[in-house]
Formats: sequence, C-alpha cells, structure tokens
Amino acid sequence: MDGLARLEYRGYDSAGVAVLGDGALHTEKRAGKLANLREALEKRPINGDGAGIGHTRWATHGAPNDVNAHPHVDDERRVAVVHNGIIENFATLRLELEEKGCKFVSDTDTEVTAHLLALEVAEHGDLAAAMRSVCKRLEGAFTLVATSVADPGLVVAARRNSPLVVGLGEGENFLASDVAAFIAHTREAVELGQDQVVELRADSVTVTDYDGAPVEVNEYHVDWDVSAAEKGGFDYFMLKEIVEQPRAVADTLLGRVSADGRLSLDEMRLSPADLRSVEKIVIIACGTSFHAGLIAKYAIEHWCRVPCEVEVASEFRYRDPILDQQTLVIAISQSGESMDTLMAVRYAREQRARVLAICNVNGSTIPRESDGVLYTHAGPEVGVAATKTFLTQLAACYLVGLYLAQVRGLKFGDEINTVIAQLAAMPEQVERVLGTVEPVRELARSLAGADTVLFLGRHVGYPVALEGALKLKELAYMHAEAFAAGELKHGPIALIEDGLPVVIVVPSPKGRSVLHDKVVSNIQEVRARGARTIVIAEEGDESVRPYSDVLIEIPAVPTLLQPIVSTIPMQVFACELALAKGNDVDRPRNLAKSVTVE
Ligand code: AGP
Repeated sequence: MDGLARLEYRGYDSAGVAVLGDGALHTEKRAGKLANLREALEKRPINGDGAGIGHTRWATHGAPNDVNAHPHVDDERRVAVVHNGIIENFATLRLELEEKGCKFVSDTDTEVTAHLLALEVAEHGDLAAAMRSVCKRLEGAFTLVATSVADPGLVVAARRNSPLVVGLGEGENFLASDVAAFIAHTREAVELGQDQVVELRADSVTVTDYDGAPVEVNEYHVDWDVSAAEKGGFDYFMLKEIVEQPRAVADTLLGRVSADGRLSLDEMRLSPADLRSVEKIVIIACGTSFHAGLIAKYAIEHWCRVPCEVEVASEFRYRDPILDQQTLVIAISQSGESMDTLMAVRYAREQRARVLAICNVNGSTIPRESDGVLYTHAGPEVGVAATKTFLTQLAACYLVGLYLAQVRGLKFGDEINTVIAQLAAMPEQVERVLGTVEPVRELARSLAGADTVLFLGRHVGYPVALEGALKLKELAYMHAEAFAAGELKHGPIALIEDGLPVVIVVPSPKGRSVLHDKVVSNIQEVRARGARTIVIAEEGDESVRPYSDVLIEIPAVPTLLQPIVSTIPMQVFACELALAKGNDVDRPRNLAKSVTVE
C-alpha cells in the first residue's frame, strides 16, 4: 500500500490489490483515491502469504468505478493482472474470447489479458510462457503484471512502450512503474527494455525477450532516497517542490563547467562535430515541458543563430515535418515517459534526425531511445503540477544553447562565461523570490471566487504567461488563458470587463526598452477597460507602478533568464488559489503526472 501511495501521481481514480494465499486469489478494488482501498482493507483484511500485485488507475477504457479498477481476473479467478497503457486490439480479442465462453465483467481493455493469460496457463501451466505468448497478440502500449494460483511465489511482468522497473532487494524483489514505489526497500534497480518479460521471485529475477531468449540487464543505483520522495513537513508535495527550486536549479548546473571555464556536456553523447553540423533545431514536448521549449527557442536562436521550431509533441508526427540528418530534435520531458513525446522521438529518429533528450528521470524510455541526453537534477517530483522540474528544464535548455554556441564558435569564451555566471547566480535569485511570495498567497486567496484570470506576456514572458494559465487550470480548475500581449488588440481584448484579473509579466526595463515599453502600454490598455492588473515586474521598475492594482516585484536578471524568476509567483498563485478552493494540489482531478497514453 505504501508503494501504491508513492505511485498515486501516475493515476488515482481507483486502486486495487490481489494477493495469493491458500490456493486462491484474494482481491479488493475501490473507486476513488487510495484511501478508499485502504479503508476497505482495514474492514476486510486480506490474509495472503504469496505474491501480491497492486495498481492505481487513470481511466482510459471504462469509467473509474470499482468494477473497472485493476486487478482484473479470469472467470475461474486463477490469474490476476494489472495493466498500464492501452491495448488497441482489445475489441477483437474480447469478441474472440466471448465466443470461447469467457464472461467479461468490466468495460476495460485490460480484462482481455486476464482471460488470455488464464487460457494459456491452463494449456501450458507456465505463467511466463503464457505472458510471452499473450504479449505477441497484443497491439498498443502496455505494462502487464500478473500472478497465478498455479505458482503463488511468482510474479510475471512484461512491457511494451510503457515503463517497468525491477527493484533488487535481499530475499525480496519488487516491480513497479517507477523506483519511487520501492525506494524505501532498495535503491538497486534494473530498467526493463522494450518487449521484455520478467519472472520475479523473492530470490531471483529472470529477464527474457518475447521468444524466451535470456536478456542481459543493466543494474543501476538510484541516487536519491526515500526522504526525497516524502513531504518533509509540508502539507503537500507541491509546496515542498516549489521550495526546493533553488537547490534543483543549482544541482542541474553543477559539474557542467570545467576548470578552464568551458562548458562540458560530454554526457550528452553528441559530439561537437555532430553539433556543428546542425542546421535546424526542433523542440518537441508537452504541457509545461513545451513551455520550457518555447523559452529555449528565444535563447537558442539568440545565442546560436540556428533556426529553432517548437512543437507540441502530439501534433509533430502528423504534419509531415521536414527533418534530416542535419536536424537536431530536442525532446523535453520531465518523466521521460510521456507517450506523445516518445512517439515523436521515434518518428524523428526514423527520419534520421538526431535526438537529444532533456529529462529528469534517469534511465526512463525517452532518454534511452534518444541519441543523447542531458539530465536535469531536480530530484523526484511527486506533485502532478510541474514546478521545480520546469525551472531545471530551463536551466538545461540554457546550457544546451550556450554549449551549441561554444562548439560552433559563435561566441567569445568570455561572453559565454558571463552568461554562465549569470546562470550560476539564479539559485540565489530564486531563493529571494521565494522569500517574498507571501503577498502573492494573500492575493490568491482573495481571488478564490473569480471565474476567469487572463495572463499576458511578450517575448520570453509569453511562455511564462502560458505556464501561469496552465497551472491555474490544472490546480484551481479555473478558466485561465494566456495571450501574447501584442495579440490582445486583435481580439481577446473584448474579454476585458470590470474587475477581471489580468496577470502581466513585464520584461526588464534594462534589456530592450522597446519590448518593456510595449508591455507597459498593454497594461494601460487593459486597465483602461476595467481590468484589475496584477503586474509582475523587476524591482525598481517604477514605470509600471501607476498602472498596477497589485505589483509583484522580482529581482533584476538578464531578459532571457527572467522566466526562472517570473514563473515562481505564478506557481505560488495557482497553488494557493487551489488550496483556498479546497483542491488537492498534488492530485488534481482527471490528471496523471506521467501520461503514458497517446
Ligand atoms: C504540468 O504541470 C503538467 N503536469 C503537464 O503539462 C506535464 O508537463 C506534461 O504532461 C509533460 O510531462 P513530461 O514533462 O513528463 O513529458
């Protein structure tokens, strides 16, 4: 149950367990949060002494109710199975199984696998062989974990396009979608590869491919421990993760500048020659990671003079993008498991583009399938809303941009060193912002009754506005929209009415004054039409004061790096407003942290 609690971020609309004991499968399943299952188990404890499996679900096929919750069992209750992903050919398989007399009780795609496995086990008596044979019949994405009354000390699992990790303990072994589930027991792990089957007993782990041929596995040590995945005195993970941002950014920058002051990103696995031949960059990502990509474009094009496109990963492969060996695709993904991004990565590699992943989870699928990787070192992020991982993605993107400029000889060493020094100072600036957010909290509480909040920004402030709106939507379930400030007069300004809260991100007045002055004009435009202006501007920028109903000051930093500090009030604002509405900010409704379906 503790392991499931640590995985709840992957999905939390229902949960269930199956444990073997006395020659039978004992199951309990409940719709809603894990607490419902816990309560049910307290009332009716399971007394199994064999292997057990459990699951928290994020519904794709069938409503989130007790019946559709996993594990699923066959008619005879001989096999139990849990599943992540989508089995695309389940309808055909279900028809075939119904014709054979199998009785289905749920609306899920998963249930077909329980019946298929049971039929195979009945015929051959071996759960692992059954799993290999069933997997060959399945189309789509899946991690399947199964137990059978035929062998109560055994758990068999398989994966295709969905993550699965083995935890290696002493006299005990574990299987989970993420190491967080078993980190309290072991930090030694094995990441399963594509199309592999694992047979797990308390004292052995055997990995084969779908034909039963043994597979060599790579063991690795997890470099964070259970305390990093716990709340550390905060009421919510999100609150803790916001506060962890200075450390997360510092850790991401750590060790990436060599003694001679040059950036050294050898771990990226892309050679300087590879990077010199790049003629175009395409950044693909989803959600918050996409916003990091939008900001990266400004920095990369400014420093490297290479054209850079940014695209939502789920759209990328459907529009026939122009890619070749001279294209560098940068895939940004906190989890390394977002299916939309993974599919875009595969497509890009098929078109012979080189792919660099920016990722926070060591050994996850996207970096493993990319040509190179730059890891962010944010540590585990449990809250569904991305916070510290966004800031570290920005830091990693800046490093990539500067490194490209360095290897392509586009900037003098001292120019690069200046920006590196500015980046190195960012953790301290982030700390300063965190020390001044109390008024933002008060403001958020005062707006708990608002229906709509608009966000405006220009240049790198525009993706920050998008991120502010996304945070408010996903946490406070409010209508929130972001616009490029200049675009306002082309339509959205019609939305402005008396008292409508509008958050505006103002660029530094010391950078390009034209940019700054245009945003100040935009503030006046919305205020003249009755908006309540909430202005995020640099300390000492007196020009905005007369037009700000609420002024949130952030430290003076270079224009391109401003998102690292201007995003923080947005995060705090959305988090506090959601808390004021009584929402669970770690587990907002309908969402999952890692979206492993397309
Ligand atoms: C942001 O708060 C969300 N959790 C979501 O938009 C997220 O950034 C997106 O699903 C991408 O996830 P990834 O970075 O793990 O690929």
